[in-house]
Amino acid sequence: METYGLHHYPGRLFVVEGVDGSGKSTQIALLRHWLVSEGYTVFFSEWNSSLLVKKTTSRGKRKQLLTPTTFSLIHATDFADRTEHDIIPPLKAGAIVLADRYIYTAFARDVARNVDQAWVRELYQFAVQPTRAFYFRVPLEVSLRRILTGRSELKYYEAGMDLGLSNDPRQSFIMFQQRIVDEYEAMVSEFDLTIMDATLPIPEQQRQMRKLVLPHLAGLRRQRPPLPAKELENIAYGIETPQGTNRLGLK
Ligand SMILES: Nc1ncnc2c1ncn2[C@@H]1O[C@H](COP(=O)(O)OP(=O)(O)OP(=O)(O)O)[C@@H](O)[C@H]1O
Ligand SMILES: [Mg+2]
Repeated sequence: METYGLHHYPGRLFVVEGVDGSGKSTQIALLRHWLVSEGYTVFFSEWNSSLLVKKTTSRGKRKQLLTPTTFSLIHATDFADRTEHDIIPPLKAGAIVLADRYIYTAFARDVARNVDQAWVRELYQFAVQPTRAFYFRVPLEVSLRRILTGRSELKYYEAGMDLGLSNDPRQSFIMFQQRIVDEYEAMVSEFDLTIMDATLPIPEQQRQMRKLVLPHLAGLRRQRPPLPAKELENIAYGIETPQGTNRLGLK
């Protein structure tokens, strides 16, 4: 879709996409640590995090009032708000913006909910094109295992129960996720998504991601010089736990 603006701001925008449990948040958190330690100014924006729609969304969800179109419009409102406040200003200032889910999430989920494909793409025309969009490709059984382990209950909308695919939330969730996977796969060539093998170990994926991001950093202003190697060793590369951090030995 050539209608998405190629931005001419000095900053860079990297986004992560993929089904639930594909490892997006894990990887983007590690990328953020690295970029900050390299001295860059980094901003982060997460899907559906705008305060503007928070109340409406939780009320609509609680009362099961949301039709696929309403859902779509709420997410587009959230995205417009974040684009204006959290994404464009840092890009203008020459910073790096990392987005955990982007327009492709709306395209995948809304179309999986039978919203018209052309309509939803049109809705997001104002979005700026990412410098690079990473798609974490993972077999459904792997992502399901990652997220369903230890989970006793799935939420109504999360499981796609509003679609009436199955009365069993777990079965409905699997069917809904499969539809989303199909949409992502169809978008790879349409939007030139960078495929990541999300079944690889966390450090390996992170190594690949950094390698792919590095060429895009040329000419980008740093806030300060990179941390010396000694201090870099102290940067957390893993997921924070109450006991400290998992050291993944990435450097
Ligand atoms: N490469 C990997 N191998 C094994 N487990 C992983 C891997 N990457 C992430 N995980 C684990 O899978 C779970 C889901 O990861 P994460 O939260 O990063 O996924 P996500 O794509 O952000 O999911 P969501 O869309 O639900 O936010 C976490 O418990 C994480 O530790
Ligand atoms: Mg996540």
